[in-house]
Amino acid sequence: MSDSIHFEYSATKVEKYQTILPQIAALIADETDHIANMANISAVLKEVFSFWWVGFYLVKQEELVLGPFQGPLACTRIQKGKGVCGKVWATKQSIIVPDVDAFDGHIACSAASKSEIVIPLMHQEKVMAVLDVDSEHLNYFDEIDELYLSKIVALISLA
Ligand code: SME
Repeated sequence: MSDSIHFEYSATKVEKYQTILPQIAALIADETDHIANMANISAVLKEVFSFWWVGFYLVKQEELVLGPFQGPLACTRIQKGKGVCGKVWATKQSIIVPDVDAFDGHIACSAASKSEIVIPLMHQEKVMAVLDVDSEHLNYFDEIDELYLSKIVALISLA
């Protein structure tokens, strides 16, 4: 396993995602513990993109429970259908939120968060976890982020 991620700070967003995707695949390939892999993926995304908050919530019984993350402290439990994360769990669809104040039911873990993207981690048609990324800037995420973050999440094997 490599002990660092190689990328150019000046690269475009797409270039950064394309550069880190195979490195993340290699990083987690030989590790079967998904908590360890989620922890390293959070660290890589934080380092490369300087996201305000990036991390995972895991489905445990009837709640999402905070998992590995990078950034300020966060809410520990989210009910199904509640907030952006709970809605992604309920609908099994990614959600891009350009302005969190305009999202009905948004759960504000941090007042500094202005926009957000949440991606489901699926296994056999069921949502097992979600990846949540927050920005302190409005309108920060787009379809590029959705595409590549989905590819990254899909690397995590929960088999
Ligand atoms: N904003 C999320 C809650 C999680 S924090 O952003 C880390 C939501 O509405 O589900």
